[in-house]
Amino acid sequence: MRNTEDDVPQPETSSLENLLHETRSFPPTPEFAAQANAQPGLYAEASAGRLAFWAQQATELLTWKTPFTETLDWSGAPVARWFGDGILNAAYNAVDRHVEAGHGDRVAIHFEGEGGDTRTVTYADLQREVSRAANALAALGVEKGDRVVIYLPMLVESVVAMLACARIGAPHSVVFGGFSADALRSRIADAEAKLVITADGGFRRGAASPLKPAVDEALEEREGEPATTVQHVLVVRRTGGDVAWTEHRDVWWHEALESADVRHEPVWVDAEHPLFILYTSGTTGKPKGILHTTGGYLTQAAYTHRNVFDLKPESDVYWCTADIGWITGHSYVTYAPLINGATQVVYEGTPDSPHRGRWWEIVEKYGVTILYTAPTAIRTCMKWGEDIPAQFDLSSLRVLGSVGEPINPEAWMWYRRVIGGDKAPIVDTWWQTETGAIMISPLPGVTATKPGSAQVALPGIVADVVDDEAHSVPNGGGGYLVLSEPWPSMLRGIWGDLERFKDTYWSRFEGLYFAGDGAKKDEDGDIWLLGRVDDVMNVSGHRLSTTEIESALVSHEIVAEAAVVGAADDTTGQAVVAFVILRGEHADKAATPEGSDEVQLTLRNHVAKEIGPIAKPRRILVVPELPKTRSGKIMRRLLRDVAENRTVGDATTLADSSVMDLISAGLATPG
Ligand code: WT7
Repeated sequence: MRNTEDDVPQPETSSLENLLHETRSFPPTPEFAAQANAQPGLYAEASAGRLAFWAQQATELLTWKTPFTETLDWSGAPVARWFGDGILNAAYNAVDRHVEAGHGDRVAIHFEGEGGDTRTVTYADLQREVSRAANALAALGVEKGDRVVIYLPMLVESVVAMLACARIGAPHSVVFGGFSADALRSRIADAEAKLVITADGGFRRGAASPLKPAVDEALEEREGEPATTVQHVLVVRRTGGDVAWTEHRDVWWHEALESADVRHEPVWVDAEHPLFILYTSGTTGKPKGILHTTGGYLTQAAYTHRNVFDLKPESDVYWCTADIGWITGHSYVTYAPLINGATQVVYEGTPDSPHRGRWWEIVEKYGVTILYTAPTAIRTCMKWGEDIPAQFDLSSLRVLGSVGEPINPEAWMWYRRVIGGDKAPIVDTWWQTETGAIMISPLPGVTATKPGSAQVALPGIVADVVDDEAHSVPNGGGGYLVLSEPWPSMLRGIWGDLERFKDTYWSRFEGLYFAGDGAKKDEDGDIWLLGRVDDVMNVSGHRLSTTEIESALVSHEIVAEAAVVGAADDTTGQAVVAFVILRGEHADKAATPEGSDEVQLTLRNHVAKEIGPIAKPRRILVVPELPKTRSGKIMRRLLRDVAENRTVGDATTLADSSVMDLISAGLATPG
C-alpha cells in the first residue's frame, strides 16, 4: 500500500484529460425536484449538527427495542461505537415491523429465476420464512455470536438465510458462489464458522451449475490443517441434481424449515453487535474479513437508499442487479430495501440468458422504477446495441444508479439516453465494502449531475481529496480520497486482525480514513474518482488483489515468478494480465504455439481453482525476467505499459534497465 518507490499507479493521463474536459451537466427537472425525498436543505441540516442529524436518521428510519441515548463514541478510534446503548434487531426492522404496520400483503420480492420460474414473496410470507429459518438454525445449535457461512446463488432463500442469521444474532459471512472450494475453505476457517448454508446448485446460462461439491471439498479433512469448525451444512434444493450426502452433517433446508415453527421471537442485540463479516481483497494475498455491526450500518443503508434512490415504498419497484456475495447485495438487496419496506426484484441469472434483452424484459414485466447496476454491465449492453433495449418499454424507470467503478462519460450518456429515456437522473455512487453504504453521490432532485462524476459527499459524510502530506488539494487538484469524519456504517475492523485494520486504513494519513482511491476535484469542487492507487484491481466492479493472484500462480509447480497487473479494458474496466517466469524446461516448451496455449490453459484453470473463475487472467505472458527496482519491488507501472500496448515509460530506476527490452522483444515474436 505504501508505494515508496516511484511505482504509484497513476490513471492514464489521456483519460484524465478527457474527464476534465467534460462540461455537460444535467440539472433535475422541476417535477422531480418537487417530489424528491431529499431536498437541498438536507446538506445544511447535516452540517449544522452532524451527530444530531445521524441520531435523527437512526430514530426515524429504524425501530429500536431500547432507544439509544448516545450517538457516537469515538474514544476507541479507529473503532467507532454508534448508537452504542441502543438495542434492536435487523430482521425485525426488515420484516416484522412492516407486517405489524399493516403492510403484510405488500410484495417484498418479485423473484425471477433464470429459466423463467417466478415467485412472489410478500412481507407476511417473508416473516414466516425468516422465522422458520431462524428456528431451524437454532435447532441446529446456532447461537448468538456464532458465525454462519452462506454460499448460495441469487435466490429468495439467500435473502431469507441472511435475515434468519440476523434474527438470532449470528453474524453471517456470505461467500460469492463464484469463488472456489479453496477460497471458501479459507474463509470458513478464518471466521471459524459453525454452519454453512448452500444449495445443490443454481442455474447459469441455461444449465444447472452445482455448488454443493465445493462445500464438500472445502470441508474435507486435510493433513496438517486443523479440523473444520463446521457442524452442519444446510442445503437448499434448487436444481434437483444429485448431491453427495454426509450423514449427520448435511440437512435439507426444506426439511428443516417444514418442521420449524412460523413464530420466532427475534434475539435483541446491542447496536454494536456484529451483523456480518464480508471478505474482500486487499493488497496482500490474504483476504480481509470486513466487520459490520448492526445499528449504524442499518441506519446509513436505509438513509442512503431512501435519499439517493428517492425511494417511495408504496409505488416504486426497485431492482439492484448485484449478487448477495458482494457488499452491494448486502446493503442494497437484503438490508436497505427491506428496512425501507420496498418492493424489489431479485433475478437469479445473467443478462444474456436466454437472450440479450432479458434485463429489459424484466424491467418491462415488473414496471421497475429504480435500477441500480454496474458500469461494466452498461458497457456490455452498449456493445450489444441499443436496438435490444429499444424492443422493451422502459418508461417506468425514473432513477438510475451506477456503482463499483468509475463510469466513463460515454457509458453514462448512453445509460441516460437509451435506458433512462433522457429524463431519469443518474446517481453515480461511490463507496466500498469497508464503508458499508453509499458515501459520495449526487442527490436526484438536488444535484445537477455530471457524466462520470460521483460529485459530492452525502449530507452527514465528510470526504476530501488530499496530497501526499495530507493537505486538502484546491479545486482543480488531484490526490487521494479520504474520509475525514467517522460515519455510522463504517467497518468496525478486520475480523481477528485489529493491527491490519489500523495499518491498512488509518496509518497513511493521521486521523483520516484512506480509501485507496485516487481522485480529483474539478473547478466546482466536485469529486471525480480515478481508480485504485494500491495493488487492488477492479474487474467488472469486482475487487481483486494482484498479490493474491500472483500467489495463486506461483503455487503452481511450473511457475517460478509472477507479476499481475490490471490493464485497462473497454468493457470490464480492468482485465487481469499476468507475466510469468516459468521453471526450466517449461519455458522452452512455452515458446511453441501449442506449448503456449497449454501453459495458458493450465495456469488459468489453476487460478480458477485457487480463487475462482472471476480471477482468471485474461492474458498470461511468458517472460524471461520481471522489471524490479534495486530494492526488489516489481514495477507494475512498466508492465501495465506493456499490457496496454503503450510505449514503456521511464525505466531508469530499474536494477537492470535492459529487462524491459528483453520483455518487449520476447513478446514481439509470434507465439
Ligand atoms: C472500490 C470498492 C461499492 C460497492 C461495489 C464495490 C471502486 C466503487 C465507485 C464509483 C468509482 C468506484 C473504488 C472503491 N468504486 N464505486 N461510483 N466510482 N469507483 O465494492 O469491492 O469494496 O470496491 O470500488 O475503487 O475503492 P468494493
